[in-house]
Amino acid sequence: MYQLPDFRPPKDSIIDSHAHFNDERFEPCREELFAAMREYGVKKIINCGTDYKRIEECLELSRKYDFCHTAIAFHPSELPDEEIDYKRLEEIIKSEKVVAVGETGLDYYWRSDNKQRQKKEFIEHINLAKRCRLPIIVHDRDAHADTLEILKEHKPKGVVHCFSGSVEMAREIVKLGMYIGVGGVLTFKNGRVLKEVVREIPLESILLETDAPYLSPEPFRGGLNHSALIIYVARTLAEIKGVSVDEVLRLTKENAEKLFGI
Ligand code: NI
Repeated sequence: MYQLPDFRPPKDSIIDSHAHFNDERFEPCREELFAAMREYGVKKIINCGTDYKRIEECLELSRKYDFCHTAIAFHPSELPDEEIDYKRLEEIIKSEKVVAVGETGLDYYWRSDNKQRQKKEFIEHINLAKRCRLPIIVHDRDAHADTLEILKEHKPKGVVHCFSGSVEMAREIVKLGMYIGVGGVLTFKNGRVLKEVVREIPLESILLETDAPYLSPEPFRGGLNHSALIIYVARTLAEIKGVSVDEVLRLTKENAEKLFGI
């Protein structure tokens, strides 16, 4: 069902800055898996709810498990037909354990027919985050130029999750004071560009993430991803940067704690 790493990192050494543990694929094993993940160094998880139903599911997880936090937004590839009620999102942020607005952004891979709408909602999400003094979690798929343009213009705090842009784009993001989210792709054979990106930017600007249940790292590519498997991403990152795995875990954890105030 799920795999566990071949060694245990120190207790509380991992923060997963982006996951979807509300996903139904975790239904049969969530309780057991959460217990195992805690044994394997996982300190905190940020679950991203991407519509009202999923937001409620993620909030339910943070009510039940104090190591779970929630980010809320409408995903750019699944914008609702009706107008988004940002007041309602603001109410949720004020009354619940919400640490970020996300994932929001642009997705021209799944939806290239409504770019203007996506840009408008992205900016609305940024404004919501600013009003609530929260960071944003940005989703950018095949929309690098427009994403960067909006970030440069509106200058939110936050992270570009599952970063898939160029070294130049990464440098611009870091210059804006934002973070680069790195997950399982770093361990893939075809993760060459991301390897170049992390070589060029400081560890102080990197957050680790899973995007669980997706993007399981090697050697479990294709399997069910979860936060304890971040250790494989940390190992690859340590190798590329020429530092110890402990150093990677320590710095990336500090980065997440600082950004999300957790
Ligand atoms: Ni995601």
